[in-house]
Amino acid sequence: MEGVLKLDNENKSVYILALETSCDETAAAISKDGLSILANVVASQIDWHRKFGGVVPEIASRKHLELINPVIDEALREAEINFSDLGAVAATYGPGLVGSLLVGLSAGKALAYSLDIPFIGVNHIVGHIYANFISHNEVATPVICLTVSGGHTDLLIFHDYGDYEILGSTRDDAAGEVFDKVARILELDYPGGPIIEKKAEFGDRQSFDFPRAFLNDDNYDFSFSGLKTAVINTVHNLKQQGKIVKVEDIAASFQQAVIDILIEKVRKAVENYQAKSVILSGGVAANKSLRKQVREKLSIPLFYPDLKLCTDNAAMISTVAYYKYKKSYFSPLSLNADPNLKLS
Ligand code: KG4
Ligand code: ZN
Repeated sequence: MEGVLKLDNENKSVYILALETSCDETAAAISKDGLSILANVVASQIDWHRKFGGVVPEIASRKHLELINPVIDEALREAEINFSDLGAVAATYGPGLVGSLLVGLSAGKALAYSLDIPFIGVNHIVGHIYANFISHNEVATPVICLTVSGGHTDLLIFHDYGDYEILGSTRDDAAGEVFDKVARILELDYPGGPIIEKKAEFGDRQSFDFPRAFLNDDNYDFSFSGLKTAVINTVHNLKQQGKIVKVEDIAASFQQAVIDILIEKVRKAVENYQAKSVILSGGVAANKSLRKQVREKLSIPLFYPDLKLCTDNAAMISTVAYYKYKKSYFSPLSLNADPNLKLS
């Protein structure tokens, strides 16, 4: 069924405080009626994880504990409201690192309980998709959504708020995870995505013919572990032969392989489902080459969130929470963290 996603704001204004602690960003945001973001505070822990080349779960949960109250205070200050103005509290309850999720979830539930207002648990991946509705008020449906982050690579068809279906997912590594791992192989910093993108600008994307798994298969699943292994082997062989490892060329060829795989699956889904638009979300959606090439290959409108809303943030969680609030989809205070939470 075709339609247009458009928010109606006819009800009384509601302020929602949302918390997001699923990985290594401690975030709090306050929205007014879902799409008006009054505060979007993100305390990044990247400096603590960088020297390990990836997120260390134990460090992440400890840092969330230290940062959660300061980010909530900062969000209230920025929004210029008090706890008593809030209509609901929301928090991500999965998927993610369990120790990290528990910090935001417990804080959110405790606040909702003490303020005697509804609590709303939110799926992180749904948050990444809804981040688009903050930046774009009207999105034609059905829309094909590609969510590509450090933990997820999912392709969905989205008919309406709350009405979507997963078409395919990664069978091994997530796209962002592979960017991070390849950066490590190339002795680049963490997180790898933005650095690989920068290096790729100065490289030749045809230098190495890396594998593109499932490219022509009749499914919407992804697989990136073969690509990762091919990059490892290439770097290893070059080093063994005493040859120069031209990081820019490897970065460009690797990035192009990821983009080719992602675009082909999106193209196929758009064609098969006669989609009216495409949404890119998650950290990898910040990649400008991916955006540019999707735009070039598809003749239908493409949407992606503003840069700050692409990577993990709580504004996107508050927006999902608003749609749930309107339908009175509240969560019990017994809601537990679910590290492997699926889209349902
Ligand atoms: O959505 P996000 O902030 O956190 C997760 O939910 O995982 O995504 C982070 C991931 C990291 O793996 C990072 O390397 C990747 O997104 N990323 C990028 C870019 N910016 C961030 N990957 C490719 N190109 C980028 N410009
Ligand atoms: Zn994310």
